[in-house]
Amino acid sequence: MVLAEIANAFEQYGFFQVVNHGIPSSILHNTLSAGKQFFDLPAHEKQKYANNPLTYEGYGSRIGVQKGAILDWGDYFYFHVLPASIRDPSKWPRKPVSWRETMEEYSKHLSKLAESLLCAMSMTLGLAPQGLRQSFGGDINLSLRINFYPPCPQPNLTLGLSAHSDPGGLTILMQDDEIPGLQVRYDGNWIRVKPAPGGLTVNLGDQIQIMTNGIYKSIEHRVVVNQHKERVSVAAFFSPGNDTNVGPMMELTSPDRPAKYPKMSFKEYRSFIRRRGTQGKQVLQSMESSTQ
Ligand code: OGA
Ligand code: NI
Repeated sequence: MVLAEIANAFEQYGFFQVVNHGIPSSILHNTLSAGKQFFDLPAHEKQKYANNPLTYEGYGSRIGVQKGAILDWGDYFYFHVLPASIRDPSKWPRKPVSWRETMEEYSKHLSKLAESLLCAMSMTLGLAPQGLRQSFGGDINLSLRINFYPPCPQPNLTLGLSAHSDPGGLTILMQDDEIPGLQVRYDGNWIRVKPAPGGLTVNLGDQIQIMTNGIYKSIEHRVVVNQHKERVSVAAFFSPGNDTNVGPMMELTSPDRPAKYPKMSFKEYRSFIRRRGTQGKQVLQSMESSTQ
C-alpha cells in the first residue's frame, strides 16, 4: 500500500525522491535554467541583488567572504515567494527576464505537491488529513534558494554546502539529473543521492521533527563539489508562518511520550540557528536536552 511505503520512507529515511509528482518537465527545466542564467551574469549585475545579512534575502556568496569562518564553495540566491505579503519584488532579479514568471509558475506547482505530501504524512501518523498543515499556521511560507556550485580545482578540500538539516518544515529539491553532489547522513555514513531523472528530492526539516515530537526526523545532508562541472539546484523550503508557535502536536504526545521540544515561533527558531551557524543538528539536539 502506498501510504505504508510513504510512512516507511518518512520514518526510516526522512529523505526520498518522488518521480510521479505531476509537475511538467518543461517547468522543471525552465526553472533550473533561469536559476543558472542568473549566476552566469557578470559579478556587478549579481551584486545589485546582494543579500541582506538580516534576512538572507538576495544573492550571496559563500566563497571567501568571512574571515575565519568555515567556508562553502557555492553561491546562492534566496528569496521569499509565499504568502505574497512577504515577497519583496524589488529583490527579484530582472535578468533573466523569464525569472519572475518561471519562479511563480514553479512555486504554484510545488505548493500543490507540498500540500499533498503533508496530507499523506498526516495520514501516516494517524492524524486528520489537514493535521500537519494546520500546525504550519494560516499561511504556509515558501522560500526558494537557488544554489550554484562552481567547479572546484581541489574538491577534496572543501564542501559545496556543509552538513546541516533544513530548519523549516518540508524541503523539495530539484537538482541537475546529470551532476550528483548531494549526500545524506544515514546510520552515521554519508550516502550519495543519485538524482532520479525528472524526479524531485523531498526531505523533512526541523519543524516537522518538532511537530511530530521526534517521530519523523530531519536528516543531515551536505553537498560535495565537482572538479570539472558546475552544479545548480533549486531548494524550496515550506515553513510555518513566522509568528506561528510550533511545538509537538497534542495528538503525538502522551504520558509515555512527553513533548520533547519547547514551543517556539519559527522566527525565533531561525534566528537561533543563524546565531549558532551550520552545525549539523546540534541546535535541535540541545533543545531536546533542555526539556529533560
Ligand atoms: C539546501 C540544500 C542541497 C543541494 O539548499 O538546503 O541542502 O543539493 N541543498 O544543493
Ligand atoms: Ni538543505
